[in-house]
Amino acid sequence: MSFTNSQYINWIDRCAAALAAAQDELTALDTAIGDGDHGLNMHRGFSKVQEKLAAEAGKDLGSLSKSVGMTLLSTVGGASGPLYGTFFIKAAPALNGKNEADLATLAQAIADGSAGLVARGQAAAGDKTMVDVWLPVAEVLKQAAASGVSLKDALQAAARTAQEQAEATIPLVAKKGRASYLGERSAGHKDPGAASSALLLQCLAEAV
Ligand SMILES: Nc1ncnc2c1ncn2[C@@H]1O[C@H](COP(=O)(O)OP(=O)(O)OP(=O)(O)O)[C@@H](O)[C@H]1O
Ligand SMILES: [Mg+2]
Repeated sequence: MSFTNSQYINWIDRCAAALAAAQDELTALDTAIGDGDHGLNMHRGFSKVQEKLAAEAGKDLGSLSKSVGMTLLSTVGGASGPLYGTFFIKAAPALNGKNEADLATLAQAIADGSAGLVARGQAAAGDKTMVDVWLPVAEVLKQAAASGVSLKDALQAAARTAQEQAEATIPLVAKKGRASYLGERSAGHKDPGAASSALLLQCLAEAV
């Protein structure tokens, strides 16, 4: 089974709905260790993305990913807009011209997006950011592709890893972003960007 354009649109629709529902929760997480805008940032960004993609249903997966990235860059401020924007833009080349992607291709796109995220934000694994979710997820997908796991099972494993990794940011001390200004006081709270990333991956598993 392959990942298709209509599944991509379905994924984004689910993200928009999930982020609307989780807005208060993400805001609460960002209020604890940041400035309290992550819920609104993500809700606003993905509402706009959903609106934009509704008019692009016939486009290939790479064009869809690029469009998501550009829209997030232009509508979401703060740190997370450019970071998520970069993720989707850097994920696009592996999907260019394709209306269907097999697991290996999707894994490559997510690995490329994650590398872009790291290049942009300069965060390493363990710095208590969304990178703590995306790097292990990229690895899980790469290994799943290499061992012949189905797309559906691989995305479910990725969603579980994402959830675990988001929870695992709780005891960490933030080394990047606004939360790092708190130093040791950032420990004991889940990173908001890791939480929103886990939501996106849960939606991806549900869309397939
Ligand atoms: N350098 C970074 N690399 C990776 N992720 C980062 C980095 N800085 C912040 N983040 C992620 O962004 C999330 C915060 O996103 P948010 O939308 O709240 O932006 P913000 O930090 O409030 O931006 P600003 O401080 O510029 O207003 C964090 O929870 C973290 O996951
Ligand atoms: Mg914030």
